[in-house]
Formats: sequence, structure tokens, C-alpha cells
Amino acid sequence: MTTLLTLHDVVAGYGAGDILKGVDLEVSTGTVTCLIGPNGAGKSTVLKCVSGLLRPRLGSVRFAGEQINGLSPRARLLKGIVHVPQDRSLFPAMTVADNLLMGGYALKDQKAVRRRIEEAAEVFPICRSRAAEHAGSLSGGEQKQVELARTLVLDPGLILLDEPSIGLDPKSRHQVFASIRTLAEAGRTVLLVEQNARSGLAASDFGAVLESGVVRLVDTGANLLTDPEVARLYLGASGAHSSPGASGASSAADVSAASTTSSEGAR
Ligand SMILES: Nc1ncnc2c1ncn2[C@@H]1O[C@H](COP(=O)(O)OP(=O)(O)O)[C@@H](O)[C@H]1O
Ligand SMILES: [Mg+2]
Repeated sequence: MTTLLTLHDVVAGYGAGDILKGVDLEVSTGTVTCLIGPNGAGKSTVLKCVSGLLRPRLGSVRFAGEQINGLSPRARLLKGIVHVPQDRSLFPAMTVADNLLMGGYALKDQKAVRRRIEEAAEVFPICRSRAAEHAGSLSGGEQKQVELARTLVLDPGLILLDEPSIGLDPKSRHQVFASIRTLAEAGRTVLLVEQNARSGLAASDFGAVLESGVVRLVDTGANLLTDPEVARLYLGASGAHSSPGASGASSAADVSAASTTSSEGAR
């Protein structure tokens, strides 16, 4: 396997303190890697350091053999690093078709953009069936499908997905994880951040645990799913759902359940 992305000793933060305190992480070409960890651990911050929304204070971010620390977000986008943030990122008043076109706004070759929109629609049929509808009229799960499809317009080398399943009903969540596998089978490389650690790891080839600003543990998704320590801290009780009052919101599984409820309530 070739390494596509390497973070080495990355230190980053927003104000006085450091959030990432020396993060080491590798993502191999054609794999899905899921980053898990408690709420506030810095998972989204890792993705920002890769897409360029945040410059690390120390350490290096290498992509396809090149040090990219100093590059702007746009330059990284043009290199094929596409970041799908946690919040919904479609333009709600624009049609699905126009949102897909916007996915390629930074590219000169608009013929390629149109061809890739066709290809994306093969993978995500919703792009065709709902093309003329306003993106804002789609359900949260449907919007996520379009957001994933939109990444394909850039022919991405690396797709960064921040909590794609958050706030979705179980059926849409299932669909999102199935779509991530579809991307993987199409040979795409994905770095996924998920509070829904169980489903995230199950959909991933590799997993990494971020805790207190460093990556504590790296293994295959399957091994992390059966690691007793990971299970205790991040997967909740042995069943599909942890019991609500068991540990407050101290595990990521509990946090996930709580934030899902609250974000659905807010929408
Ligand atoms: N734009 C920002 N300005 C200041 N602090 C931030 C900002 N974004 C995140 N943080 C803080 O950085 C920490 C890590 O955040 P984040 O990377 O979003 O964690 P995670 O994605 O693991 O939940 C949190 O304490 C959060 O409050
Ligand atoms: Mg986050």
C-alpha cells in the first residue's frame, strides 16, 4: 500500500493552547480510515490541518509525497483534497444540479466537470432523480448523498468527511455508510471522522483513536471494533446502543446519541 497522506508531529490550535499536541497519522491510497475520539478531542481540527483551513504550528502534513503545510485551502483543493465539513454545505436555494456544478467552480476544465457530474450521478442516482429540486428541500440524508457526489466532481485524491452521519435518522445513516463503502470500492481514499464510532469503524479499513491531542492507537477497523478498551471508551455497551444513563456522556457513543437527538431537534 502506498501512503497518500502523512501527518507527522502536528501541533495545532486556535488560541493560546494547543489542541493537537503532536499528531502522527497515515492514510494509504484507496483505503478508508476512521478517526474516532471523544467530543472536543480535535478530530475536526485534524481535518482542517489537512485541507488548509488551519495551519499547524509545528510538524508536517505531506500529501502524495509533497509537503503541503504552506499551501492555501484552494491550492490543496486543486491537488485533490476535498473537505466535506460537518455542517450542511449545499446551497439550499440552488438546485441539486447547480450545487453539483458549483462543486467544480475552481476548475478550468468545465467539460471535465460536466463529465464527472454524469459519473457522480451513476454512483449517486439522486443527482439525476432530484436534479431540478432545491437542495434545501431534500432530507438531511439526501443532502449528504449530494455532498458526497459533489466531491467526485473534483476527482478527489483524498476525501475528508467530518461526521457525515450526525443528525441523520437511522436509515439515512445506514445509507451514508453504504455510500462511503461505495466510494472506497471506486478506489477513492477517505479520511472519515465519526462520533458514531461503531458504524464508522465498521465502514473503514483502518481506524485511529485521537485522545488528549495525540493519536493513541492505530489498527484495522475490525481490530479496533473488538478491542476491549476501545469498546469500553468509544463503542458504548456491547449492544447496538449503550444504556442512556450508564455513564453520562463520557463515551463517544453516548455523545453521538445525545448530539444526534439535539441536532435533529434543532433542524
Ligand atoms: N474555531 C475555533 N476557535 C477556537 N476553538 C476552537 C475552534 N474550533 C474548535 N475549537 C476547540 O478545539 C477543540 C477541538 O475541537 P474539534 O477539533 O472540533 O474537536 P472534535 O472534532 O474532536 O469534537 C475544542 O475544545 C474546541 O472547542
Ligand atoms: Mg468535530
